[in-house]
Amino acid sequence: MKEKVIVTAAWPYANANIHVGNLTGAYLPADIFARFQRLSGKDTLFVSGSDAHGTPITVRAEDEKTTPEEVYKRFHHSFLEMQVTVGITYDLFTSTHCQNHYKVSQDMFLALLENGYLYKATEKQWYSTSQQKFLPDRYVEGTCYLCGYNNARGDQCDKCSNLLDPEKLINPHSKVDGSTPELRETEHYYLDLGKLQDQVVEFLRGKEDYWRPNVVRQSLGQILTNGLRGRPITRDLEWGIPVPLKDEVGKCLYVWFEAVIGYLSASIEWSKIQKDPEAWKSWWENQDCKSFYFIGKDNIPFHAIIWPAQLIGTGTKFGKYFENKDNLPLVLPYDVPSNEFMNLEGQKISGSRNWAINVNDFLERFDPDPLRYYLTVNMPESQDTDWDWEDFWKRNNNELVATWGNLANRMISFAQKHWGEVPEPGDLTADDQALLDTVAQGFERIGKEYEAVKLRSALAETMRLATEVNRYLDTHAPWQLVKQDKDAAARIVYTALTAINYLKILFSPVLPFTSEKLHKILGYETQLFGTQIIESISDELGEHEVNRYDPTLASGKWEPTMLPAGQKFGAISPLFKKLDVEIVEQERSRLGKKH
Ligand code: MF3
Ligand code: ZN
Repeated sequence: MKEKVIVTAAWPYANANIHVGNLTGAYLPADIFARFQRLSGKDTLFVSGSDAHGTPITVRAEDEKTTPEEVYKRFHHSFLEMQVTVGITYDLFTSTHCQNHYKVSQDMFLALLENGYLYKATEKQWYSTSQQKFLPDRYVEGTCYLCGYNNARGDQCDKCSNLLDPEKLINPHSKVDGSTPELRETEHYYLDLGKLQDQVVEFLRGKEDYWRPNVVRQSLGQILTNGLRGRPITRDLEWGIPVPLKDEVGKCLYVWFEAVIGYLSASIEWSKIQKDPEAWKSWWENQDCKSFYFIGKDNIPFHAIIWPAQLIGTGTKFGKYFENKDNLPLVLPYDVPSNEFMNLEGQKISGSRNWAINVNDFLERFDPDPLRYYLTVNMPESQDTDWDWEDFWKRNNNELVATWGNLANRMISFAQKHWGEVPEPGDLTADDQALLDTVAQGFERIGKEYEAVKLRSALAETMRLATEVNRYLDTHAPWQLVKQDKDAAARIVYTALTAINYLKILFSPVLPFTSEKLHKILGYETQLFGTQIIESISDELGEHEVNRYDPTLASGKWEPTMLPAGQKFGAISPLFKKLDVEIVEQERSRLGKKH
């Protein structure tokens, strides 16, 4: 059996536009990683979807005097368009608002209940007398009782990242209307994290040597300092998944409890779409399958503590409720590569202040690969980074255009002019072979960086190899040589073109559109990657759109391939556009304004 890999990215709330910080935080690294895994021949399942429930959506719907469903569908649709344009190749990007997800979430709830990991308790929650309803935790703000931060949300502090007990918040006020809420009693189901603590700690201990330090600190470190306590996983809400018990009317599953279950439910839905309903099991019920969860740092506790706890607590019971009664445990996360944040021109990104670069908007003016490139060289893998328009402009022109694009374009145009095809090289010299070996060895070295989710250094190393090829050409100058010794020039051009053919693959996880284009220019008729399809699926809850990757035509492989001499080129055109310096000020002046 081929090696199995699950790749996931956080589920975006379907109530706001996706900006470059979200993209570089989770969706883009997940896509780069998934593309690399596919090229390496792994059986990759890359899933996510819209987080359609949460209160931000109901609040927005109230503001707009429309329904939560309408809000979620509108944003969900724009996410799908963004994914196709920027090339985020989910095998399935679905939604939490569909029948399949309801069923899987309710089944996991029942399994946890049967295993004794849920308990019922009455606790005080913030109630808004002005709105006459319980306020969701994140709609209560106040001072963090752990670190003193002033703008902590009821459920989590953005400053110290700790999960909070909402009722302990100091100076609480409603985010909706500023009023002071009061504590009222309400009865809910709680996930018994205390009971699961030892098993979660044991799970996390195994991760200390390869998880990013920040993720270990915010999960294991936090548990060892503060311990785990039960957390309510139901809410008094209408927009959400009903608690699957007869006497629990008006209660829904808490959005964070069910959204993470989406990783599993989306895999199950994908299997149904493939007409192979059991397929998900060879990933999820396979303890050798590695799963990677790409998220931003504000999501760490939910993925590194609570989701593992849900999986551990479910144990072998999921199958009992689910259609196929396998009684096998589900695989726990292998890695949770969480990113820090990206700022914009020195300030925190904020959609509401328009201090943001909306991805769909960006793509109306620029191409997707320069975006993917800039977000990867600047990816906040170990610390916050900054989007700077001048830096974007410079890197586009100096690195993409000058180092990589011109190398490919210049060589191919030159070969076309003098030979009309990939020239016959004759015997390669030691120098030629040394260059090809250097670039070919990149597959193993850069592959290791990708495996370890070090995308920045994988890309930096790839760019360094492009520089090596430029250096080789500077030394051997085929443009001079062609006049005196056309055969020698042919050998050098062949060597450079083959190195470019290797680089095409090495760059392709980050620059898929460009590599695909270069593949055609080099004369291939195949496709490196598959294609994306948007379609609508209907079930008992109505219709939901999905986006899925169809790998049928994908032929790219993570290995060096010599170019066949005599191959005819496709239509030649530059790989990247040089940008005018004016864009720097134009783009800066858009920030902070309505448009
Ligand atoms: N919607 C959440 C956010 O944008 C992320 C949810 S990830 C999930 O922060 F796994 F829970 F779905
Ligand atoms: Zn705090």
